[in-house]
Amino acid sequence: MTTSKPVTDWATDWTHFDLRWVEDPFPIWEDLRSRCPIAHSMRFEDGAFFPSTYEYVREIAYDSDHFSSRRVIVREKKVELQPNPPITSDPPEHTAARKLLLPAFTEKAIQRFEARTRQVCIDLLDNIGGVESCDASIQYAQHIPVLVISEMLGLPADDGDRFRDWIHRLLEVGPTDPIVADKALQEITLYFVGQVADRKPGGHLFEASDLISFLLSAKINDEPLQESHLVGTLRLLLIAGIDTTWSAIGSSIWHLSTNPKDLRRLVNDPNLIPTAIEEFLRAYSPVTMAREVVKETSLGGCNFTVGSQILLSFPAANRDPSVFEQADRVIIDRQENPHVAFGLGRHRCLGSNLARMEIRVALEEWLRRHPVFSLKIGEKVKWSEGTVRGPRTLPVTLGKSEQVCE
Ligand code: HEM
Repeated sequence: MTTSKPVTDWATDWTHFDLRWVEDPFPIWEDLRSRCPIAHSMRFEDGAFFPSTYEYVREIAYDSDHFSSRRVIVREKKVELQPNPPITSDPPEHTAARKLLLPAFTEKAIQRFEARTRQVCIDLLDNIGGVESCDASIQYAQHIPVLVISEMLGLPADDGDRFRDWIHRLLEVGPTDPIVADKALQEITLYFVGQVADRKPGGHLFEASDLISFLLSAKINDEPLQESHLVGTLRLLLIAGIDTTWSAIGSSIWHLSTNPKDLRRLVNDPNLIPTAIEEFLRAYSPVTMAREVVKETSLGGCNFTVGSQILLSFPAANRDPSVFEQADRVIIDRQENPHVAFGLGRHRCLGSNLARMEIRVALEEWLRRHPVFSLKIGEKVKWSEGTVRGPRTLPVTLGKSEQVCE
């Protein structure tokens, strides 16, 4: 959780757990870009760097010789390595671990889940009903990716609370509390060991046709996956797809709840939704990853010693004014938008087709049902801490506009 000692200089003592960073990181990054584009902090074991420009984020993401993916979360205390292939794999192992998953996440494969996603959204909106206000994160955004990934993996739809609890403990509390992280990890591992056993001969899900069964029968170099690989990949698929997309849906609705002009434009011209989504992904990118230095190198005048951690902020890269004109403005019909919300290089997000489909359907259905809404005056939006950023509470008034930020 948020560390107690406040930051006095972001260039030499930053932490992304400071409440100011959690609530509004953009001015901090802007300041750093202008005076110290690669900041450093000793709050994290072996020290951690924070590159805030597009150029440095790109350079590190493409350089797996020096910057390993074996640690993808910056932590105050390092924990034992826990492989979750392919995201924690470096070359050469990465290639085969990723290739295995590609067919399940092509645009065509994802289309099969669109009707179900739409039904999930419609049901959630029906449950909210004709009230005057609701919480768009708690009652809507948080459920959509859980229900869709559960269907893909063949998991019980009503395990959602459990999944979100694991994610909170692992990604929000875990980086500063290794005991909490370890316990959550053990629980997820046990859960998937059970799910795998259920799909083996004699198990009650033998011959199921879900993604877990597919991976159980998959081979690398003609050998079935080792159980540690299989379970690690399943942990990744569960964790990678939930709070990321939940955050992206939430941030998009949050933006529209505070920008009535953009809201009206999207309601009047739903064809603009896909372009607007790319801009929301750029401006409110949810995912920040990490790397560990495995071979000494230097970049931007900084010496990267072995063992140092890197906070690899795709969100900061996406706000770099040397790449994006008016980077701090949200322009929902931005034409040139080479954002890196889904990462760069060999680890680029495998689930981007799924994420884009879920965000689009979630916005289409929300706007169809609630063409007028606004952030509820006097109530606070709570943003998540750590690796993934998005609103965890989002109180909105439905059917009338309370805010004018135009
Ligand atoms: C808006 C939603 C999402 C965002 C912003 C996002 C972002 C990212 C980013 C930045 C990476 C690169 C990690 C790195 O360089 O270390 C990544 C990797 C990955 N994402 Fe996503 N993601 C999202 C949704 C999803 C979904 C729905 C899934 C489906 C399960 C998914 C599965 C993965 C996987 C498996 C990887 C690892 C790929 C590899 O290492 O080769 N993501 N994601």
